[in-house]
Amino acid sequence: MIKEIQTILNAGAKKAGYNEEFSVSFSNMPNLCDFQCNGCFALAKKYGKAPLQIAEEIVGAIDNNGDFEFVAVKPAFINIKLTYKAFSKLANKLLSLDKVGVVEHSKKMNVMFDYGGANVAKELHVGHLCSPIIGEGMKRLYKLLGHTVQSDAHLGDWGLQMGLTVLQLHEDGVLDYYFTGKGSEPEITLDMLNVAYPKASARKNIDAEFKKRADQYTKNIQDKVEPYYSIYLKIRALSIKTIEKLYKELGAEFDLWYGESSCDEYTDVVVDKFIQQGLARESEGAVVVDVAKEGEHIPLPKKSEDEEQRYKNPMPPAIIKKYNGGDLYATTDIATIYMRNLANPIPDEMVYYTDNRQNLHFEQVFRCCKMSGISPEGQNLVHIGFGTMNGKDGKPFKTREGTVVKLDDVINLLIEKASEKLKSNGVEVTRELALKIGVGAMKFGALSNFVTKDYVFDIDKFLAFEGKTGPYLQYTVARINSILAKAGEGFGEINISDDEQSAIIMQIIKLNSAYQICFEEKSLNSLCLATYDLASAFSTFYNNHHVLKEKDDKVRKSYLGILTLVKKALVQALGVLAIEVPEKM
Ligand code: ARG
Repeated sequence: MIKEIQTILNAGAKKAGYNEEFSVSFSNMPNLCDFQCNGCFALAKKYGKAPLQIAEEIVGAIDNNGDFEFVAVKPAFINIKLTYKAFSKLANKLLSLDKVGVVEHSKKMNVMFDYGGANVAKELHVGHLCSPIIGEGMKRLYKLLGHTVQSDAHLGDWGLQMGLTVLQLHEDGVLDYYFTGKGSEPEITLDMLNVAYPKASARKNIDAEFKKRADQYTKNIQDKVEPYYSIYLKIRALSIKTIEKLYKELGAEFDLWYGESSCDEYTDVVVDKFIQQGLARESEGAVVVDVAKEGEHIPLPKKSEDEEQRYKNPMPPAIIKKYNGGDLYATTDIATIYMRNLANPIPDEMVYYTDNRQNLHFEQVFRCCKMSGISPEGQNLVHIGFGTMNGKDGKPFKTREGTVVKLDDVINLLIEKASEKLKSNGVEVTRELALKIGVGAMKFGALSNFVTKDYVFDIDKFLAFEGKTGPYLQYTVARINSILAKAGEGFGEINISDDEQSAIIMQIIKLNSAYQICFEEKSLNSLCLATYDLASAFSTFYNNHHVLKEKDDKVRKSYLGILTLVKKALVQALGVLAIEVPEKM
C-alpha cells in the first residue's frame, strides 16, 4: 500500500518538476489522514521555494486513480487518505488471501531456531519460561514471512549436572546395583533427581574434592564408560518426559529434540580444527581459543570495585576442552553448529534465545565458529539475550521462601488463577480452557515487553479481561465466533461506509508493518500492540453497529465480512504469538 502511494506521489512530483524520491509513512494523526509524507521541508533550500508551495504543486500534479485523496496542509505535509472505495477493495482482497496482510520476504532463508534449552536432571524453573515462548513466536513469525524454519530444543544433557547427579545418587546408595551387580535394579524417580541435583550443586561449591569427582563422573559419561553411561541414559529419558509435557503445555513445538550430547561425535573433530589451524593454545591443562579482538576491552561486571580495571578487561578466551579432557558448554555449541552445517542446504541463519547472562558465551562461540570457518561467511549467527522476569517488587521472581519457582508451579498457578477469573465471569471451566487462558495471558504479558528488557510477572494484570492482555484478545475472537454463529449466514462483499470500519482495515494494514518490525528487532512486542489495536478498533465498531439487527441485507453481510476478516487477522497474529484461541469463553 505504502509503495503504491509512493509511486503515485513520485510520479506527481516528477511532473511538477521535482525529481525526488519521497517516502510515505503511517499518519501520526489517524483522525486527519491515514498516511503522510514529510518530504517537502527538506527541499525548500534546494529549489528556493516555500515548502508548502512545493507540497501544493506536487498535489496539483498528481494523477489520482480515485483510491486516494492527497492534500497539502500547513506547514508542508502531504496528507493522504484512502477513500472508502479503496478500503472496500482492499478489505475484499485481504479476505480472499490465505495470509492476511502479510508481505512475504523475497529472499527466503533456511533458519534454525535454538530455544528451550531445558536441562536434563535439573527441574525446570521460571527462568526457563521465556525461551520457549519467545523462540516459538519468532520461529512462527519467520515462517509466516515465507522462510523455512526448524526448531531444536537443544537440551542441556552433556554437562556437569549429569556427573553431579549421578555422583550424588551413587553416594546416597541408590545406584549400588549398577556398580556392584548386587540386589535388584532400583527405580530412579523424578523426585530423586529433584533432590539429588540441588544437593550436589550446593556441595560442589564448598567441597573441591566432590567437584573433582563429579568432573570425573561427567567425563565417564561423555566417554560412554559403563555403568555411568547407562545410568545417564535412564536419567535423560526420565527427564525428557517431564520436559516434553511442560513444553507441550507452553505450546512450544520442536522439530528436533537434540541435545548437547547429539553432537558428541563432532566435539573432537572441532577441537582438532582449532588446534590444526593454530587457533588454540593450552592453558592450565585446558584447551582455549583467544577470541578477543585486538585492543578490545569488555567491561567487568558492575559489582567490580576496581573502576580502572573494569575497562581493561579483554574478552576472556573460550575454553573448548576442560583440564581433564572433558567437553564444555562451548564445545558442544561449536560442535552443534558444525553438525548443523553438514546439512544440505546449510542454514542461512541460526537464532538462539537464552537469558542475557549467556551473552558472553554466545559471543565467544560465534567468534570461534567464524574464525575457524565452522560457520561460513555470510551465515548469520544471532543470539538474543532476553531480560529477567521479576516479581512485582522488581526483584527476580522467587517463592515466598526465596527459592526459585518451579515451572510446573507457574503453570499450575496460571491454571488456578485463570479458572477463578473465568468462573467469576460465569464461564464453564475445564482444565484445558484454563490452561489456554492462563498460558495465553502469561505469554502475551511476557511478549509485550521488548525482548532484552527485564519485565514484571504480574499475573493479575496479565489475566485482566480488558486492556492489553491475552484474555482480551482471546475474548474478542470468541465474541466474533459467537456473533458469526448466531448470524447463521455467510458474509457478503465488504463495503466500507464509515471511519470506524476503515479504521479496522487500517489496523490490519498496520499488522503487516508490525510483522516486519518484529522480524527486524527479533522482539514480538510490536505485534502484541498491533494485535491489541486491531481488537480495540473492532470493539469501537461493534459497540456502534448493530450487526445482527441490521435490516439491509447487503450491509449486514458486509458487516459479517468485516467480522470474518478481523477474526482471520487476529487468529493469524495470535497464531504467531502461539496463543491459542478457544472457540468459546
Ligand atoms: N541449557 C542451557 C541453559 O539452561 C540453554 C541452552 C541454549 N542453547 C544453546 N545452544 N546453548 O542455560
